Amino acid sequence: MRGTTKRRALIAAGVVVAAGAAVLAHAVFLPGPLDFAKGTRVSLADYKGPSPTGVPKELANAAVLERGAYLTAAADCQACHTAEGGTPYAGGRPFKLPFGTLYTPNITPDAETGIGRWTDADFLKAVHKGVAPGGRHLYPAFPYASYTLMTDEDVLAIKAYLFSLAPVRRANLPDTFSFPFNQRWLMAVWGAFFNPGHRFEPVADRGPEWNRGAYLVEGAAHCGECHTPRTLFQAMDTRHKFAGGQAEGWNAYNITPDQTSGIGTWSAPEIEAYLAQGHAKGRSVASGPMREAVELSFSKLVPSDIVAIRTYLQSVPAVHTDLPAPAGPAPRDHGTAVAGAIDGKRMFEGACASCHAWSGAGVNSADAQLTAKRAVNDPSAANVALMILKGSGPQVAGRPYMPGFAGAYSDEEIAAVANYVTARFGAVASTITAQDVARLRAD
Ligand code: HEC
Ligand code: HEC
Ligand code: HEC
Repeated sequence: MRGTTKRRALIAAGVVVAAGAAVLAHAVFLPGPLDFAKGTRVSLADYKGPSPTGVPKELANAAVLERGAYLTAAADCQACHTAEGGTPYAGGRPFKLPFGTLYTPNITPDAETGIGRWTDADFLKAVHKGVAPGGRHLYPAFPYASYTLMTDEDVLAIKAYLFSLAPVRRANLPDTFSFPFNQRWLMAVWGAFFNPGHRFEPVADRGPEWNRGAYLVEGAAHCGECHTPRTLFQAMDTRHKFAGGQAEGWNAYNITPDQTSGIGTWSAPEIEAYLAQGHAKGRSVASGPMREAVELSFSKLVPSDIVAIRTYLQSVPAVHTDLPAPAGPAPRDHGTAVAGAIDGKRMFEGACASCHAWSGAGVNSADAQLTAKRAVNDPSAANVALMILKGSGPQVAGRPYMPGFAGAYSDEEIAAVANYVTARFGAVASTITAQDVARLRAD
């Protein structure tokens, strides 16, 4: 009797341990960034065809600084390494994480406060492995798990460009992480599992355009850092590549070719226009971190690189998520269509309709269209609320612009108008609360 109980207990314990190990293994052993493509992976040296790395052929004869400038833009080092209103690359932009705030360091060539004393080897080790001089391990908020695919030559061209800038004296701010998150050595363990740690390997069976796109998307442009969901261990969940992630409170949507929840219905020219200009007629307008990526990075790429990015993007497996297909035109009757959202409706009339129109078609500008937009069809309404709080961001000449309303309206009012907008123009009415808006405002 006692023997049986003991055996059962042992079997149960064994099952629990095995299940735990399976869950852990699932989270730890992830497919590599290009595994979905199958085919034969070859080293760059063995690849027959135009090199997928470096600068595009338009810049083949450019001087090293010009090549470095192009690659620095493609990798968008500026976005993260610049504080609001600060000198580019002098650091200080805060990244608020659940366990504290991390500030980007100064990467101008100042000898005291920047990276002026770094050797080529130091720089390569930081960008490929996330390890700074002295063995200081860096947090993966610095997307070295993507940059690791970039060749030494390209990373050193970026260094040459950064070292050509004026040094800026600006001391780095310490992070505010508490124990155990302040244990930087833990990032060595993270890197051992989740940093692929090798340079880009083209797929021989795919064309040069696809391979160039893969190099840009997975390496320099690090699309997955925002658009791929994260695992328990904050690694990119490559089983759900590009199925939707987060960037500073904004939802970075599903950009797989799924027909309803992804961008499967976007045409090639629409995807290219969105990436190069931040808007494509009838499709979304890039706001928040995506607008910044377009302004500082993708808009600086030559057309052939935009086509390469689009080619690669359309080749990844479609992943179906629970975002609904965007709704069609809004109902003509905007009277009492939304029960319990009277305040939101009145606010829309006073603060939004003059630019967006009751139909949501946009007044004077197709960019101000609200129908068919992913953000408006996102039941969380997070990006709609952030758009109302912050507006379009810095005004760019020649681009239509939306002001932010953070100072003008309370959290309750913003939640009400956001819920009205999704109910009237989207597929599903959102139920964002004042508390949710307060959290987005604090970020
Ligand atoms: C998504 C945001 C982001 C982007 C894009 C980014 N970085 Fe960083 N970077 C960070 C953060 C955050 C840190 C600090 C990490 C830490 O303290 O652990 C960092 C750290 C660094 C460091 C270490 C500096 C030091 O003093 O320790 C270097 C060098 C660096 N980045 C260079 C670059 C270069 C070059 C690029 C473009 C190829 C780039 N970064 C793009 C966020 C970013
Ligand atoms: C810094 C984070 C970040 C990076 C890097 C980034 N994105 Fe985005 N992306 C976003 C966010 C956030 C949105 C949602 C913007 C909005 O609601 O206006 C978005 C939206 C998009 C959309 C529109 C989706 C839709 O349904 O409306 C496409 C397409 C897209 N990104 C493609 C890309 C590609 C391709 C890359 C790399 C070349 C990339 N993104 C890199 C954050 C990012
Ligand atoms: C002064 C004109 C103006 C006003 C007022 C205005 N908007 Fe906008 N809005 C725009 C423009 C222009 C865009 C496109 C922004 C861009 O190109 O970056 C936009 C974009 C948006 C988007 C993003 C659409 C997308 O493609 O993702 C949302 C959501 C939005 N507005 C909601 C509102 C709401 C709600 C209000 C009222 C509280 C409002 N807007 C007030 C002009 C305005």
